[in-house]
Amino acid sequence: MHLFKYRNRELLAEDVHVKKLAEKYGTPLYIYSYNTLLRHFKAYDEAFDGYPHIICFALKANSNAAILRLFAKNGSGADVVSGGELFRALKAGVPSKKIVYAGVGKTEEEIRYALKSKILMFNVESENELREIDRVAGKIRVRAPIALRINPDIDPETHPYISTGLKKHKFGIPIEDALEYYKLASRLKNIDVVGIHKHIGSQITKVSPFVDALKRILILVDELTGRGVKIQYLDIGGGLGISYREEEPPLPKDLAKNLLPLLDGRKLTLIMEPGRSIVGNAGILVTKVLYLKKGVEKEFVIVDAGMNDLMRPSLYGAYHHITPIVKKKRRTILADVVGPICESADFLAKEREMPEVRQGEYLVVMSAGAYGFSMSSNYNSRPRAAEVMVKGEKHYLIREREKYDDLTTREKLPKFLNL
Ligand code: LLP
Repeated sequence: MHLFKYRNRELLAEDVHVKKLAEKYGTPLYIYSYNTLLRHFKAYDEAFDGYPHIICFALKANSNAAILRLFAKNGSGADVVSGGELFRALKAGVPSKKIVYAGVGKTEEEIRYALKSKILMFNVESENELREIDRVAGKIRVRAPIALRINPDIDPETHPYISTGLKKHKFGIPIEDALEYYKLASRLKNIDVVGIHKHIGSQITKVSPFVDALKRILILVDELTGRGVKIQYLDIGGGLGISYREEEPPLPKDLAKNLLPLLDGRKLTLIMEPGRSIVGNAGILVTKVLYLKKGVEKEFVIVDAGMNDLMRPSLYGAYHHITPIVKKKRRTILADVVGPICESADFLAKEREMPEVRQGEYLVVMSAGAYGFSMSSNYNSRPRAAEVMVKGEKHYLIREREKYDDLTTREKLPKFLNL
């Protein structure tokens, strides 16, 4: 459910006309709906009500400060994967005791930063990393709380690039080696074993892979308990998939209904790290039609948003619904919606049957709130888009559009190149 709806044939973001925002802030423009964001966050929080839990929003999906602050104000924790994300989470006001830190390549500086910040736990992905965290913690004389990221070898049936829980993936520790790793972790001088973590992939549109993975992990938790290793935090990783087309993926309450019975009677705190399902459908990307071009086999709708603004179609062949912001009777055309970037992979839609559009009109790319702006870049020296949050009838600029100057501020000219 989201709050981007047509009223009198014009698209609104909550109660504000998208056209008005596009004209005021320019395009490409990301627009987020405050009430959709809040509702999606609460849907998770309320679904797991009654069982101790922390919803740790996955910053990688969207790390805008205003969005993070909104979640922090409503009790969210954070799932971070870099020093930069940790910095953002802390700055937005997420309590450090609600921050979990995953990722296969944590550097010494990042580990030190996280230890000093007193985060809830590191989700550790390898033996070498475990030893490194132990070493760094020893050096600064603190103890490091850790969970091991266990790879349950469950197929999440999603796109191969965003599937992570199989043996062949770089993530986590194979489940059959888990006991040995926990034994090692318990022996290390500066490590406190506090939890267990798993994450099998993203855009999962069924509940069953979550259930199967949790069952496997709980068998392990029981074995660990039998050996005196106390697990307090059970982190089940990212959240559900979302609707990009017409599909209706399960809701947080469906997930909770299937997972909570498995946890009954266990003294654990459940952690979830949803990203996409909270922000995905709460954001749109507005773009302007620059030119129309008739190709031999199809038409090209050339817009001012490129793969640098929204990478998902180019990278994963991902589908995003694209629609004009004004509804009227139109002919259907077969078109590629492409950006201005000098790459054939620069498209937002391929061979799409879509309403005929006119030069100069605005289109919206739906479901762009997750992995949209956060994956954007300056490729082709394009300043990154502005971001706006709408709340009821009000709208707020939450990130200024970059300027040309921003492109070069960090660059330095060696003296010998002086003119
Ligand atoms: N936790 C961990 C350890 C993760 O690796 C991820 C996502 C999440 C949580 C959040 O998962 P979510 O609730 O968003 O499904 N760029 C890709 C998605 C990459 C996902 C990476 N990990 C895309 O645009 O589809």
